[in-house]
Amino acid sequence: MSSAREVLDRLGDFTFEQHPVGGESIDAHGTALTAEVLDACRASDAVLLAAVGGARWDAAVAQDAGAPRPEQGLLGLRKGLGLFANLRPVRPSPALLDASPLKRERIEGTDLLVVRELTGGIYFGDSGRDGDTAHDDCAYSVPEVERIARVAFTSARRRVTSVDKANVLETSRLWRETVTRVHREEFPEVELDHLLVDNAAMQLVSRPADFDVIVTENLFGDILSDEAAMLTGSLGMLPSASLGEPGAPGLFEPVHGSAPDIAGTGMANPLAMLGSVALMLRHGLGSEHEASALDSAIDRALESGLRTADLGGDATTEDATRAVLQSL
Ligand code: IPM
Ligand code: MG
Repeated sequence: MSSAREVLDRLGDFTFEQHPVGGESIDAHGTALTAEVLDACRASDAVLLAAVGGARWDAAVAQDAGAPRPEQGLLGLRKGLGLFANLRPVRPSPALLDASPLKRERIEGTDLLVVRELTGGIYFGDSGRDGDTAHDDCAYSVPEVERIARVAFTSARRRVTSVDKANVLETSRLWRETVTRVHREEFPEVELDHLLVDNAAMQLVSRPADFDVIVTENLFGDILSDEAAMLTGSLGMLPSASLGEPGAPGLFEPVHGSAPDIAGTGMANPLAMLGSVALMLRHGLGSEHEASALDSAIDRALESGLRTADLGGDATTEDATRAVLQSL
């Protein structure tokens, strides 16, 4: 977050408010998200979010299953701000083509967007325990699928690949029918494919460059976007934007978590956060010029050799911030 603030200060005259969410909020208020913080986010033009958890709070949950979890803060913000569309662009930087565990020739030309439904499905269904049985319900309504399908078709340059498990799940059959109808009625000029999620997981590493937009439900999108992150070389590279209805503030955050194993060492890769700043400028603040300037500054910093530990180098968070500011 401090890296993001430095870069934003360089790019313009922004007014910041800082509020605790997740672990910090649990420490201060006993809950991962307070009503005041949610209201403050609603009243902002955009929300930039740093990672929310850590071992200390996981230990508290291990002691007492009813203890607050940092993740509830993030989920509460998504639901409370109506952020149903999560955009996760995956565009491996040319300088990092050899940093991915996949062969260069596989990933060359990859430029895809995962559009993940973010406020429905199993994440927000009824859940509970009854004796030795637990359940998490998955539900989707037609309007929920229609609105995320529209985001996907609008974002596509050529093709939308809709991912589901329609051979097994009823929610997936409703998903597929609805996406197909929205396509036919509103976006016939875009190509549409359907893939089953297991097959999609395989195709994503065997022919990633063939994808344009992937649209999928909440849990599948969570899993596939971490897989897609490795195309860029590291989970430390993937930014995201979560958007609601037009006019509502969006939320921008890296896809990765709080990396508790390196917390406090100054070694975290800030580039997913800085990429999220670029998405915030583009989708949240209407500053396309600054957004693309920042995206290319990140690429140039990598081209000039910047590598944090997750990419096999030894640059610190501070070094990476300096390198991006320098290119900017
Ligand atoms: C993500 C994260 C979150 C999710 C967690 C932290 C609740 O993994 O944004 O992908 O599952 O959505
Ligand atoms: Mg995830």
